[in-house]
Amino acid sequence: MATISLLLIFLLHAATVISADLRPGFYHSTCPDAESIVRGVMRKALIREPRSVASVMRFQFHDCFVNGCDGSMLLDDTPTMLGEKLALSNINSLRSYEVIDEAKEELEKACPGVVSCADIVIMAARDAVALAGGPDWKVRLGRLDSLTASQEDSNNIMPSPRANASALVDLFRKFNLSIRDLVALSGSHSIGQARCFSIMFRLYNQSGSGKPDPAIEPGFREKLDKLCPLNVDQNVTGDLDATPCVFDNQYFKDLVAGRGFLNSDQTLFTFPKTRGYVELYSRDQSQFFKDFVNGMLKMGDLQSGHCGEVRKNCRVVNGHSDHLLLE
Ligand code: HEM
Ligand SMILES: *[C@@H]1O[C@H](CO)[C@@H](O)[C@H](O)[C@H]1NC(C)=O
Ligand SMILES: *[C@@H]1O[C@H](CO)[C@@H](O)[C@H](O)[C@H]1NC(C)=O
Ligand SMILES: *[C@@H]1O[C@H](CO)[C@@H](O)[C@H](O)[C@H]1NC(C)=O
Ligand SMILES: *[C@@H]1O[C@H](CO)[C@@H](O)[C@H](O)[C@H]1NC(C)=O
Repeated sequence: MATISLLLIFLLHAATVISADLRPGFYHSTCPDAESIVRGVMRKALIREPRSVASVMRFQFHDCFVNGCDGSMLLDDTPTMLGEKLALSNINSLRSYEVIDEAKEELEKACPGVVSCADIVIMAARDAVALAGGPDWKVRLGRLDSLTASQEDSNNIMPSPRANASALVDLFRKFNLSIRDLVALSGSHSIGQARCFSIMFRLYNQSGSGKPDPAIEPGFREKLDKLCPLNVDQNVTGDLDATPCVFDNQYFKDLVAGRGFLNSDQTLFTFPKTRGYVELYSRDQSQFFKDFVNGMLKMGDLQSGHCGEVRKNCRVVNGHSDHLLLE
């Protein structure tokens, strides 16, 4: 009997985690400076290396799509766990983990054991956009950090740069994200860079045709061919849009002109169901900003449904002696 009620209590507690109430100002009394500390770290990162804020912003997507926004992609591999850092979409690609570490260190000094790594990812993504000249918004906080990570889940879920818009629409729908959300969120590629590795096939062998993707505007293709010739070191990078340090609607103007970098970008313009939104955002930056913020909030609400903790170090789960936080 006692065991059963203990189990029940456990399940009830676990249930609170599943529907953890995220809200703005979650750290208002427990760590009042949390948000300004993260903003400060991001400001320093931007000065040190402008691209790093884009790299950090990307973490939100890669974290939230794989078992909810729970900081799982920040965990290093262990002898018993293959984490997400070496998953197909992340290996040699996700970068600037040290910026999250720096924020965590400062937060642990100010208020030890209080602010989760999962929440740092969400705050930092918002800060990246704001610091790059995009919109600023209030984020909902109160997430817990996962106790595990899954390379397999990441491999199964995260989309390839080869993906077409139709596949992306289906993927985003699984997360209750609409076509509008998909196009607006893809506007994150207004900042940052990608590797030649991610576009070689579309430059030289689109869909196995032995030819380039016909959707690439010829002048732009010449530029890409120079950047990424057949024998290039595929770690060489190019800009995702014409203004890679500024968060603006240039990305959508580029797509309309056939100057999208990734296949997954350009296909948003060639595919009829997404094209209208690309055109809309290319003309109306404030509508893009509004829909982007809405999409980031929805994506940030994806939850893992597992128990969690507030990690002391974002790269490793806390030791055995620490109590798991069940609510
Ligand atoms: C719609 C499906 C998406 C696909 C297929 C995709 C794919 C990619 C790829 C392939 C890269 C470059 C990787 C490399 O070559 O190393 C990249 C970069 C990036 N992605 Fe996405 N992405 C998508 C959506 C998103 C979303 C929703 C966000 C954030 C809200 C995002 C943020 C970024 C950022 C900021 C970069 C540049 C990172 C840097 O400079 O380090 N992406 N994405
Ligand atoms: C899009 O990609 C999917 C999956 O790779 C494929 O099955 C489908 O035929 C493609 N659709 C179009 C319109 O190219
Ligand atoms: C999407 O919404 C449905 C209906 O509200 C819900 O049952 C489902 O869990 C949601 N999916 C995700 C991934 O949030
Ligand atoms: C292009 O892709 C097709 C199908 O994937 C493959 O059979 C062919 O060998 C590739 N051609 C080149 C030049 O890589
Ligand atoms: C890119 O660089 C990494 C190490 O920095 C290396 O392991 C990898 O093989 C390189 N990838 C390509 C496609 O050249």
